[in-house]
Amino acid sequence: MANMANKDAEIRTRNGGPSLAVIGCGYWGSKHIRVSCDIRDARLSMAVDPRPDRLEYIRSQYPSVAVSRDIGAVLNNPSIDGVIVATPVETHFELARAVLQAGKHALVEKPLAMTSAQCRELNAIAEKRKRVLMVGHTFEYHPAVGVMRQMIKSGSLGELYYIDSRRLNLGLYRQDANVLWDLAPHDLSIIFCLLEEVPQTIGAWGCAHVLPNVEDVVYAKMGFKSGPTAHVHVSWLDPVKVRQTTIVGSDAMLVFDDVQPSEKLRVYQKRFRPRIDGDSYADFQSAYHHGDVHIPAISSSEPLKLEILDFVNAIVTGERPCADGMHGLRVVEALEAASACLRLKYKHGSNGKDQRIFRRRNMPAGGPEVAVA
Ligand SMILES: NC(=O)c1ccc[n+]([C@@H]2O[C@H](COP(=O)([O-])OP(=O)(O)OC[C@H]3O[C@@H](n4cnc5c(N)ncnc54)[C@H](O)[C@@H]3O)[C@@H](O)[C@H]2O)c1
Repeated sequence: MANMANKDAEIRTRNGGPSLAVIGCGYWGSKHIRVSCDIRDARLSMAVDPRPDRLEYIRSQYPSVAVSRDIGAVLNNPSIDGVIVATPVETHFELARAVLQAGKHALVEKPLAMTSAQCRELNAIAEKRKRVLMVGHTFEYHPAVGVMRQMIKSGSLGELYYIDSRRLNLGLYRQDANVLWDLAPHDLSIIFCLLEEVPQTIGAWGCAHVLPNVEDVVYAKMGFKSGPTAHVHVSWLDPVKVRQTTIVGSDAMLVFDDVQPSEKLRVYQKRFRPRIDGDSYADFQSAYHHGDVHIPAISSSEPLKLEILDFVNAIVTGERPCADGMHGLRVVEALEAASACLRLKYKHGSNGKDQRIFRRRNMPAGGPEVAVA
């Protein structure tokens, strides 16, 4: 898996760069609009949303951007090269397919679509039409993720034991997705990017406390062929905002805390190696190593900007973007597998039982197995 978190955007562009449009001008779409207007390698030509209030806001903030309630204004506009889809997840597939079939490049927000079959279809259309298909896995572009990936690759953490990723806060509840589909795409894309591997097994446990059948707390665990395990905890029902990834190796450990305004990454020279030649309490104590804490310098580049620059670069050069449509597929496969575990909970009322493993019949070769509660 390619990664450009550390590659601060050397973009080769043709004159003026590609022309972009954003479909969906809500919370996240308006960030895409801000960043797209700010880069000089492309120009944002149009923004589309069915809500007049959103269009009025965009018009007032970005007078040079044409606005429309009709996506036909984008699809039928031959001067638009690339389209960013930042709408609710249930609309991703139809909109992305229409964009690709109109001969335009597509950057689709996470998760790429609602099912892996839809993701495969989008990848196939993009391949056939030679268009870029990218997914908004913003954290794959986070400079801290690039540094962590390098540390794992260089072996400086030793043998990798486990990764623990937590994304918690109070709200925002969504009706189009549960907390797994809303927040876990970030954790899954970070973990797959760090390990350069997809899981062999996935188990998930969750609870819908507030809205019926919409899980607001989910725990997932994954096993990887190369050895490490990974655990993801996502919640809309937690008093404290947490955005934390911990990586534990045999030689060192690190914590990526994205809530911190700076010094987001800390590497702890801590480890535990039990002594085999002593059985006193003092021997046990001395098996712990408490060394330095190192704070690596990380670039302050905005991940969303790096993501959009990668999209622009892919349009201009034909190079594969780092978070391409296949990355989108892998995350959706994992979400589907975890959702299968959650659904079985409702079927059997077996929340929290021991796990057994089976292979889903419709999972493609190499896809994850499902560990079912
Ligand atoms: N990458 C990230 O870090 C990140 C962060 C937040 C949200 N997101 C993703 O962005 C997407 C949008 O989330 P949001 O929080 O901005 O939601 P939102 O509800 O704030 O905005 C969605 C917008 O899409 C518009 N819309 C709905 N259907 C449409 C259609 N058919 N055509 C055009 N516009 C349509 C709505 O009117 C609304 O303005 C979701 O897929 C979400 O998962 C990604």
